[in-house]
Amino acid sequence: MRVIDIIRAKRDGRALTRAEIAWFIRGATEGTIPDYQSAALLMAIVLRGMTVDETAWLTSAMVESGARVDLSALPGVKVDKHSTGGVGDKASLVIAPLAAACGAIVPMMSGRGLGHTGGTLDKLEAIPGFRTALSLDEFQHMLAEIGCSLIGQTAEIAPADKKLYALRDVTGTVESVHLISASIMSKKIAEGIGALVLDVKAGSGAFMKTTAEARALAESLVRLGSAAGIRTEAFITAMEQPLGRAIGNALEVIESVETLKGRGPADLEELSVCLAARMVCLAGVASDEHAAVASVRAALASGAALEKLREIVRWQGGDPDVIDDYSRLPAAPHRHALGAARRGFVTRLDAELLGRASMTLGAGRDRADAAIDPAVGIVLHVTIGDRVEAGAAMLELHYADEARLSKALRLVDQALVIGDAPLPAERLVRGEVA
Ligand code: URA
Repeated sequence: MRVIDIIRAKRDGRALTRAEIAWFIRGATEGTIPDYQSAALLMAIVLRGMTVDETAWLTSAMVESGARVDLSALPGVKVDKHSTGGVGDKASLVIAPLAAACGAIVPMMSGRGLGHTGGTLDKLEAIPGFRTALSLDEFQHMLAEIGCSLIGQTAEIAPADKKLYALRDVTGTVESVHLISASIMSKKIAEGIGALVLDVKAGSGAFMKTTAEARALAESLVRLGSAAGIRTEAFITAMEQPLGRAIGNALEVIESVETLKGRGPADLEELSVCLAARMVCLAGVASDEHAAVASVRAALASGAALEKLREIVRWQGGDPDVIDDYSRLPAAPHRHALGAARRGFVTRLDAELLGRASMTLGAGRDRADAAIDPAVGIVLHVTIGDRVEAGAAMLELHYADEARLSKALRLVDQALVIGDAPLPAERLVRGEVA
């Protein structure tokens, strides 16, 4: 086989065969196919798309590029949750301990923030000492002992995805339903779970800008998960404005802990309860949705979920006292408050622009190997629909560097709009795919 023929075939809109896809994935992973040819094929896929069969073959070739974790020694259905990526989306830090406190076994493998979206691993690593790079043995031991572990993709899991994702990120080839589906599901299938709840984000801060695009992605993800024998269900949720009030790693840890103490923002609590309850249902530890919601609410109210987070932090080498004392987390040296330019109603808090502003402050990376500052970020004091007076506090930037602050302020300026009339409230959960 020649890669040039495969690239030409996809460029001209022909469906690839299973053998062609498997051969390409092997070559791209082993390095016998150069990155420029892999990138050309990825771009042809973005422009020409893939059939359902091609996407399934791509996913299984990526799974086969590495190992599959065997969690069969642990009892019951192991359940994970995955978000397709957003701004201020710290829900995993709330949901994983919530579902585990209800008796579900939650092997959660998460990613890092890239571009304007945040990543669970970066947030967890804002906790001094927290290790996300556990070995698969440590991961399984933790699951057996406390029912939850929050780690990164290990070298053994879907190495083809690791390689191709880095290439996609720098070649404008992330935004494809087919490539995103194969990327996410190859990792989830390899992780050894029996059930998966997906949070597919739709809106300015998400890869999928419209609900229709998010639905297409949700359907593709659910189809791949179900075909692999994983009970997979997806929620389509709004990402026009950031989730919760905090953007930035340590700030998001504080907001997650506050949510587990029952003092979090309403949208984060609503989403966390909804997704955790579905996980508890799919894991079979609650008889129905109603019982699952009651169990999740009880784990929140009793503090059991908060204690589960403390256990996770301790087991993964982090400082568990951050839960009671936020001053043990990194804090930015300066704050800049921004007031409302006029009286009116908040009509826009653009998630992508605010995510980019936070990244500009240093909370995110524009290259996979760039360092981040766990302390910086943005705290919103308003949400869409709020009425504000001129000069009222809108948000606060936590920063370390004046030059970065001025760049971030230009983005924040475009992100905020105050209008004369309130917009109708938007639903957080826009749909479901099962
Ligand atoms: N998250 C992933 O893991 N892969 C993608 O392609 C996009 C988001």
